[in-house]
Amino acid sequence: MLQDFIIVSFSAAALQVLSMSNMCVSQVLIQLKVVHIFLQKNPCEATPLDFVFVIDSSRSIRPNDYEKVKTFIIQILQFLDIGHNSTRVGLLQYGSVVEPEFSLNTYNSRAQVEQAVRDMKHLATGTMTGLAIQYTMEVAFTKKQGARAVHLHIPRIAMIVTDGRPQDTVEEVAAAARQAGIQIFAIGVGRVDMKTLKAIGSEPHSEHVHLVANFSQIETLISVFRSALCGGDEMCEVVDHQCQHICVSSPASFRCKCKKGFTLNSDGKTCKVDAILACKKGKQTRM
Ligand SMILES: *[C@@H]1O[C@H](CO)[C@@H](O)[C@H](O)[C@H]1NC(C)=O
Ligand SMILES: *[C@@H]1O[C@H](CO)[C@@H](O)[C@H](O)[C@H]1NC(C)=O
Repeated sequence: MLQDFIIVSFSAAALQVLSMSNMCVSQVLIQLKVVHIFLQKNPCEATPLDFVFVIDSSRSIRPNDYEKVKTFIIQILQFLDIGHNSTRVGLLQYGSVVEPEFSLNTYNSRAQVEQAVRDMKHLATGTMTGLAIQYTMEVAFTKKQGARAVHLHIPRIAMIVTDGRPQDTVEEVAAAARQAGIQIFAIGVGRVDMKTLKAIGSEPHSEHVHLVANFSQIETLISVFRSALCGGDEMCEVVDHQCQHICVSSPASFRCKCKKGFTLNSDGKTCKVDAILACKKGKQTRM
């Protein structure tokens, strides 16, 4: 009984461990601890993502703070299941200009991505956050750069880390990026104001918008993102999704879906009868 329950709620790895021999309860518990440690070290089994880091590399960031940003990125990478057919990761830095480091189709292992993050050089120029968001939308999330087709519904996530007030406007371009289906996490450090972060980040802001006092505090967000990206809440159950037919939860977000024979309207919530089907129905009534 106990074993059945354990097998159902754990992965294939656990099944292997448990089926090795007939074990008494205490042995099972010891093995469970091992399995638990094993699971903690491994990436979450969340849905695949197309994930782009958008990193502020402005002058105001001191060298040791820049290292903390790298550490933060590397810690996030630890729980992403990186691979060509799982989560793809891209990264761009920005200052006065956008500096693409690698795109969604450059690497297919965590080791490669980590090395590229370690090798990043601080730009130490301006803070053109709007420009960076525009690049993210128009270039980073294109098929050419490795973003997967929209109909596959692989969440497109941009995580923006910034320490200062943008030198350009962000409101319109961020709204356009969100409208284009990019889910934006906005992380502010220090002097960024909450109003700017909220203008950038996706809804719900409680999941997507975070402000910390300094770069030492940024690591406090790791556990927040781990739970947001590795399942966390079933968003369809916690938000007022207003989907007419079906709501599908995704990491920190959700999307609406229609029943067979219907297509989602541009509002992303309501459904209309498929044109072809409507046509066929028309014919049938005439016959
Ligand atoms: C990814 O999936 C495709 C289609 O299922 C398969 O042909 C390909 O070998 C996979 N690539 C990797 C790197 O696993
Ligand atoms: C960072 O902010 C926290 C919380 O406000 C504070 O306790 C800490 O001293 C700050 N650290 C640095 C290096 O400024």
